[in-house]
Amino acid sequence: MSLLSNVLGQYDAPQKAKELGVYPYFRPIESDQDTVVSINGKPVLMFGSNSYLGLTNHPRLKEGAIKAVEKYGTGCAGSRFLNGTLDIHIELEERLAKLVNKQASLVYATGFTVNSGVVPCITGREDYLIFDEFDHASIIEGKRLSFSKQLKYRHNDMEALERLLKKCEPDRLKVIVVDGVFSMEGDVAKLPEIVELSKKYNASIMVDEAHSLGVFGKTGAGICDGYFQQVSWNHWWLYCFRQ
Ligand SMILES: Cc1ncc(COP(=O)(O)O)c(C=O)c1O
Repeated sequence: MSLLSNVLGQYDAPQKAKELGVYPYFRPIESDQDTVVSINGKPVLMFGSNSYLGLTNHPRLKEGAIKAVEKYGTGCAGSRFLNGTLDIHIELEERLAKLVNKQASLVYATGFTVNSGVVPCITGREDYLIFDEFDHASIIEGKRLSFSKQLKYRHNDMEALERLLKKCEPDRLKVIVVDGVFSMEGDVAKLPEIVELSKKYNASIMVDEAHSLGVFGKTGAGICDGYFQQVSWNHWWLYCFRQ
């Protein structure tokens, strides 16, 4: 037996959890994604959904998706870089950019790929990426792919953030990366203070609006939109840069 098979063979946590009936992953849902879903033929309350606005089931979106499949088929047949960009990608990106009042937007398939794709390529070797310790795992993965200097501050602790900013070389890029709404804690980034600090130390900010786009802002444009004016609901992806 190879060393790898041997090591893998010793990993039996999933089997043990399954025997106890508490294995939570890959449970197939047999219905549409709603507040109640069907698992093993039984109705089950759904508490894990990211479809905060219920758009997954919205009749207009379903109709749009059916029409798109009829016109374009079931896939892009290539990467977005090459032959995989459709006119409806561009339309969506233009409309999203308008929603958040930015020059442009780029849609990724998942939030994880946004953070692992964007975070490593915005700063260079001599620059700084600065993180809240409770940033989402995908931001942490993204930072592991980066060659930049990486600094972490205590969750929502603005004094700790300022101490880090003070330490950075003034002429180098500094990007503070935060969850708008922290995914596990549910609390909100102290953006007004972060913005003040970024101005003081000439840093930029990247906000992961996974749980705030559609939820905060007058038009649902997220936490960056005037800092928490009115509440509505959704789960989209938005990454705002502010100089
Ligand atoms: C703040 C934040 N960023 C990124 C992600 C990753 O998103 P996805 O599950 O679409 O890969 C999540 C997951 O919910 C999240 O909460």
